[in-house]
Amino acid sequence: MKNYRLALIGFGNVNQGLAEILRDQKDFLAEAYGVSFTIVGVSALSKGSIYQPDGFRASELLEAVQRDGNLERVAAAQRGWDALALITNSNAEIVVEASYTDLQTGQPAISHVRRALESGKHVVTANKGPVALCYAELAELARQNSRLFGVEGTVMSGTPAILLGREVLKSARLRKVEGILNGTTNYILTNMELGVSYEDALAEAQKQGYAEADPTGDVEGFDAAGKAVILSQLLFDRAIGMVEVERTGISRLTLEDIQQAKQAGERWKLIASLEEKDGKLRARVSPIRLPLSHPLAGVSGATNAITYETQALGRVTLIGPGAGRQQTGFAMLTDLLSIHNAQSMR
Ligand code: HSE
Repeated sequence: MKNYRLALIGFGNVNQGLAEILRDQKDFLAEAYGVSFTIVGVSALSKGSIYQPDGFRASELLEAVQRDGNLERVAAAQRGWDALALITNSNAEIVVEASYTDLQTGQPAISHVRRALESGKHVVTANKGPVALCYAELAELARQNSRLFGVEGTVMSGTPAILLGREVLKSARLRKVEGILNGTTNYILTNMELGVSYEDALAEAQKQGYAEADPTGDVEGFDAAGKAVILSQLLFDRAIGMVEVERTGISRLTLEDIQQAKQAGERWKLIASLEEKDGKLRARVSPIRLPLSHPLAGVSGATNAITYETQALGRVTLIGPGAGRQQTGFAMLTDLLSIHNAQSMR
């Protein structure tokens, strides 16, 4: 049985989701993969920072947060380390980075990822900032240090959009991808069609843990644009900037617009697309009125979908959760298992 020690940066929805999975799937992971994961440290701005070299039980961390809203009453060998101190000084082999996403600066997550890779630790993250803004640099740093940089959770949460696209469909010669890549806006649009107001639908998406800390990122299309940038890099090997994505959000769509589309047998969806044409890659995010017969028109709620257009297979569509606590926590598990598989083959 191989055990890996984890340092968690951030303890919000995503890392709590991962902790729940590790708590609930411990026996399954041991039996099916011969692996276990021990959380040795957590550093979170609002919940505190604790470190215990021989590890915590995932359940005690979750219970503390549920009971107290923080980690202050969890017994620990060391308290108060900031994220960089935990990354540098802990005995963790893998850093799970889930601090908040900032698509303008990528910080503080970029510094966390850099420090982790420089100190010989693998990194898994669902944080879109570092991946959208400096994937090439961080992937190179990982290579130089013979460590892995797992980013599956940055697009479509635990639905394996990157894995499928990168490991399989890229070789089928991808020409275009198009999809619904933001759960919050799809949830809002679905509910507005049912007559719920924009404000109430957004509030519920926040409550369900789908929305970004600042939901402007969702409704103005920045989140989907960030995901387009990530897919451009990972599936098409093109490094583009956020400003190169033509972007329109959904904030100007009214209940009336949505009802009008419904009466005409159509539905508004926020569509992100990347298309290679004449040697150029065009990246776009915008609301599009789709006929109900379109495959993406039936994708509702926080569910996401992506259609890959390939030379060898034609169209392949993947539909699944795009946001959510355990759904994104599961993406972290996917990356953790990829690290385990890579280690086992050495
Ligand atoms: N805020 C994002 C969404 C979370 O709604 O899709 C997942 O990246």
